Amino acid sequence: MIEVRKIAVLGAGIMGSGIAQVAAQAGYEVAMRDMEHRFVEKGFDSIKESLGKMQKGGKITQEQINEALSLIKGTVDFGEAVSDADLVIEAIPENLDMKKQIFKGLDETCSEHTILATNTSSLSITAIASATKRSEKVIGMHFSNPVPVMMGVELIRGRDTSDETLEVAKGVVRRIGKEHFLALDFPGFAGNRLLPLFINEAFYVVWQGIATPEDVDKMCKLMLRHPMGPFELADFTGLDTILSVLEYLHKEVDEKYRPCPLLKQLVGAGHYGRKTGRGVFKYS
Ligand SMILES: NC(=O)c1ccc[n+]([C@@H]2O[C@H](COP(=O)([O-])OP(=O)(O)OC[C@H]3O[C@@H](n4cnc5c(N)ncnc54)[C@H](O)[C@@H]3O)[C@@H](O)[C@H]2O)c1
Repeated sequence: MIEVRKIAVLGAGIMGSGIAQVAAQAGYEVAMRDMEHRFVEKGFDSIKESLGKMQKGGKITQEQINEALSLIKGTVDFGEAVSDADLVIEAIPENLDMKKQIFKGLDETCSEHTILATNTSSLSITAIASATKRSEKVIGMHFSNPVPVMMGVELIRGRDTSDETLEVAKGVVRRIGKEHFLALDFPGFAGNRLLPLFINEAFYVVWQGIATPEDVDKMCKLMLRHPMGPFELADFTGLDTILSVLEYLHKEVDEKYRPCPLLKQLVGAGHYGRKTGRGVFKYS
């Protein structure tokens, strides 16, 4: 079985930066690649903020922060990031064509032994793997946001994913201190069959004038004991990501996933949530 020493993370956004952080904290050498330097810098800012919070809470020392940061190399160079990686975890936007294009490039650039994982929320692992000539080495590793805090990772085998690839992925999940669970390669897997439906329904409640976003969030926290309301969570996740997932599930699974017009309107206006400073709510 291959030994993973270096992990390349593609995308330094909400998920990519979190995955790079936990991988470095587990002692892996990490390359974090995005399209432009400013996105890589933004990724580092998120990592530093997250590590800073952990330090304030007494969970890690300054020495551990320095060590983790020293293991992460930010880059915009695709070849430099992935050519000597043992595992690549892709965390670019939720778009099948983009992901297939990236996986084709990975297949051509990575070493023969390299395992290629995708953090997709909903898309077919088998379809993504079809862009490569190593479908047995392609797997879904679906982390949850915020990655440093959430303990579960959903592992999804594509049609051809080998036992060895699954075992390597399980080993990485273990080493970063999380737990895996398995789901079939079906649109949305297990977790994202449920959550987008709930968030979409919350948008319909507001769209129909039944309650305000503030009151829906308050109700879910006070009456359902949710740690975050659906709108707080939607802004945290990214409304663009939620819309992409809903559109895919609507097309592939059932009419019940039809995205609410209010959600489409906000995404159309560029209000993606916290990452753009405005979503359902405004952020300073
Ligand atoms: N946000 C969540 O809560 C969440 C949870 C689980 C899974 N996911 C999935 O993770 C993936 C990433 O989501 P996110 O929320 O981090 O998105 P994001 O918009 O925060 O980040 C995506 C990043 O990818 C970069 N990018 C685009 N093309 C690239 C390329 N070719 N190479 C390298 N970087 C590239 C973008 O510049 C951006 O910085 C999506 O597939 C999403 O469905 C998201």
